[in-house]
Amino acid sequence: MSDVSRRHFLKLGACVVGGACAADALPSLAQATDGGDITTLRTTLPYPRMKLAAIGQLIIGREQLTTYPDQASPVVLVKLGRPAINGVGPDRDIVAFSRRCSHMGGILNFRPGTGTFHCPLHYAMFDAQKGGLLVIGHATDNLPQLELEVDAAGDVFAVGISGLLYGRQANVFA
Ligand code: FES
Repeated sequence: MSDVSRRHFLKLGACVVGGACAADALPSLAQATDGGDITTLRTTLPYPRMKLAAIGQLIIGREQLTTYPDQASPVVLVKLGRPAINGVGPDRDIVAFSRRCSHMGGILNFRPGTGTFHCPLHYAMFDAQKGGLLVIGHATDNLPQLELEVDAAGDVFAVGISGLLYGRQANVFA
């Protein structure tokens, strides 16, 4: 082992043992790929701001199917008719979620009577009023919920996602 690599090895070992690794001690993707601003230390990605619906078009209990943040990610927007966690609009009852079950990606069905999403594969159930809370089933995570905003014209926009979409390492592809 050369002197340089031994020094690097000892420095890295001291960081790990001491639990005080400085960011510059870790290799970044930028170093590995010859330039650019890409870094493996970045933990948030920019989400697109995308119009999903106009409030005036929404009917209580009737789901609107669309995709977000890209066409490979099916989502559902619904006006529940009662206030919900992270609900938007004048009644705080408009919510949106990924339609892929957090267990193995089954496409969920919405039941307006109970305000719940049901997976046809292994029967997981999620509560739309409670932020996509897992009620029962094999899944271990709640349903990813879209972050919504309403503008002055009454249009509902998706601006982010809380939770990781099924099957992805990041919700937004670089
Ligand atoms: S894929 Fe939904 S419960 Fe298994």
